[in-house]
Amino acid sequence: MQPSNSRRDFLHTVTGFAALATLGSLAAQGRALGQEPGAPAKAPEPKPLERRKFGKTDMQVALLGFGSAEIGYQKIEQGTVDKLLGAALDAGLNVVDTAECYLDAELQIGAAIAHRRKDYHLFTKCGHIAADGSRGNDWTTAGILASLERSLKRLKTDAVDLFQLHSCSKEELQKGECIEAMERAKKEGKTRYIGYSGDSAAALFAVESGRFDALQTSVNFCDQECIDLVLPKAKERGMGVVAKRPIANAVWRHEGLPDNGYHQEYWKRFDALRYEFAQGEARKREDADGPAGVAMRFTAMQPGVQVLIVGTTRPERWKQNADLLRAGPLSPELEARIRARWKEVAKPDWIGQT
Ligand SMILES: NC(=O)c1ccc[n+]([C@@H]2O[C@H](COP(=O)([O-])OP(=O)(O)OC[C@H]3O[C@@H](n4cnc5c(N)ncnc54)[C@H](OP(=O)(O)O)[C@@H]3O)[C@@H](O)[C@H]2O)c1
Repeated sequence: MQPSNSRRDFLHTVTGFAALATLGSLAAQGRALGQEPGAPAKAPEPKPLERRKFGKTDMQVALLGFGSAEIGYQKIEQGTVDKLLGAALDAGLNVVDTAECYLDAELQIGAAIAHRRKDYHLFTKCGHIAADGSRGNDWTTAGILASLERSLKRLKTDAVDLFQLHSCSKEELQKGECIEAMERAKKEGKTRYIGYSGDSAAALFAVESGRFDALQTSVNFCDQECIDLVLPKAKERGMGVVAKRPIANAVWRHEGLPDNGYHQEYWKRFDALRYEFAQGEARKREDADGPAGVAMRFTAMQPGVQVLIVGTTRPERWKQNADLLRAGPLSPELEARIRARWKEVAKPDWIGQT
């Protein structure tokens, strides 16, 4: 006969008390289970970072990825990149995003982690390097296929998981040749999926074309055009969605207009938006309710977003940011205030930034 519910509960309680008593006496002797006598108590393992299904693909992506533009453009030394990527993979990273044009980033990624290729999904992009190696757009079939061959060599792999057009214009997409080249690369097995990386009207065109498996676009509290314009449509079509520039280049770190031209537009918007969680002393907070935490948690809750590829040059950063994301979504009230503030302040030319 099954014991009654109340009896079962009671038995659980008694067993629980007995276990607690045993643990208490072990702890009193300085011995938790599996530890040497006298060793300090181990901190509990953090819960694993959330994974989301990447659109209709077979990939389950950890919510925090890695964007490699910063390591490339800032010419970070190989030893630091080894540490950064190795530590992040150990802590749960499984999406690494790069591009042929991020100077040596592909080479650095290949050197650091090609031996762990099964541990991560690899996304790269094409279109900004000509056949002779000089910088300049090349959206021809030959140019795109040659770019992928060079990327595979540099990344030391036979195929990437996602190959993306690197922000070509809507007009270029309309011509069609670049999309056909991407489809050919997929058919030849050099990439498992294809995507468009870009913003605003061009991103919308790419989504509506129905030809891409994934979209990479700028989503952050200083760049919200896509939230109404593009993301709902990408979600409806079951596309994988990568949020690029997901913490708005951390522009709150600058007292005045940053020297780096790439950060200036977001800084100007941030200055006008005056979000309360990033004013005065609050700007310096490093917890989940400080600007970095709020920025990432806001981006992670936008429609269809599955992975945030935060750029960093610091080995400790991935783990810190993963901890901030573990706090989960913002309260609906705070998210609504960020959306409302944007709608009130954004100018018509505050379109998605590439
Ligand atoms: N057209 C395109 O396809 C395109 C365009 C832009 C970007 N992307 C992709 O998106 C990725 C991300 O974009 P992004 O690097 O420009 O912008 P981002 O991820 O919004 O910002 C990166 C900056 O934030 C800082 N940061 C990171 N975590 C922080 C924290 N907790 N507190 C304070 N600062 C923090 C980093 O500095 P530290 O070094 O100090 O961590 C870095 O300077 C790129 O790497 C690239 O892969 C693609």
